[in-house]
Amino acid sequence: MIAGTGHAVPKRRMANDEFQALGIETTDEWIRDRTGIRYRYVAGPDETLTSISTEAARMAMQAAGVTAAELDVIVLGTASADRLLPSTAVEVQAALGATRAAAFDVSAACTGWMYGAQIAEGLMATGNHDTILVIGAELLTRIINWKDRNTVVLFGDGAGATVLKRSTKGRGILSAYMRSDGTLADLLHRPKGGAAFPTTPEIIAEGSDKIAMAGREVFKNAVRSMADACDRALDGAKLAAADIDLLIPHQANIRIIEATAKHANIPMEKVFVNVDRYGNTSAASIPIALDEAVREGRIKDGSLVMFVAFGAGFTWGSMVVRF
Ligand code: UT7
Repeated sequence: MIAGTGHAVPKRRMANDEFQALGIETTDEWIRDRTGIRYRYVAGPDETLTSISTEAARMAMQAAGVTAAELDVIVLGTASADRLLPSTAVEVQAALGATRAAAFDVSAACTGWMYGAQIAEGLMATGNHDTILVIGAELLTRIINWKDRNTVVLFGDGAGATVLKRSTKGRGILSAYMRSDGTLADLLHRPKGGAAFPTTPEIIAEGSDKIAMAGREVFKNAVRSMADACDRALDGAKLAAADIDLLIPHQANIRIIEATAKHANIPMEKVFVNVDRYGNTSAASIPIALDEAVREGRIKDGSLVMFVAFGAGFTWGSMVVRF
């Protein structure tokens, strides 16, 4: 069961109309019409993935009534780790003082928190782990190309955290679905800068160590895969769309969210949307939305919530959870 949630963002909020001053040919109107985004958060020099993840984690632990010493595992989904080695999860472990925990990162892009939650469920089922912190967090503004209008307007920074405990009395994950398709990896990737093409001055100059995306292709695949994933999650839980109290989809684009909800036959009043205020925060998007939904009272004891995500890889997945 999801026993507590939290989220944190950097201090600076950036509006759409600030891009023009940076020399990017775009408008507030284009960004709002095509994506639904109005604002995103941008980390400053004193902010790190570890710092915002730790802040979100503390909030989730407080909500769950769990201390650092009680954490058995820390799983952190991210595509923008503070360092390539070691994982950001161990840095969060050190910051929290969670001395007993095993900690590791999950690399599944926007599906990172969802993969993490399903891994946590599996670890709890072994009987060896009771209390698991699952974080989704990104500093995407550090890995985007600030000259590329196709991507720079979309992404933002943030962290969402959840404390998972072994399910009791029919609460927790009722169905879970995970998929990936690596044949489409090049449609959303960082072409260079990893071990295959270590960073050189040329790579930095051409920006090929930053995120590159074939937007239209990603859009089509996202709609198709998220729609299918909703069907799978409902089938797996033996539920109908009408049973779902709230759909929390990955927040990449309002048009993708609307198309997914329409396919799933869930009215927009039952869909949580905050892409307007955060942009696409990849692995952080679902746990940030979940925390807001909980704190706004849109999720109560017994609520049935469906989650659906899609991202680079491609990776995608879904879950139905009873709170
Ligand atoms: O997190 C999961 C992965 N990410 C996503 O799910 C994102 C998926 N993709 C999308 O959300 C959309 O494809 C975008 C928002 C990225 C683009 O929207 P679109 O309706 O697919 O536009 P488009 O790529 O077809 O581009 C339309 C036009 C192009 O101009 P031409 O070629 O028609 O003259 C672009 O150059 O819009 C232009 N354009 C822009 N114009 C103003 C692209 N970016 C911008 C911009 N401002 N920032």
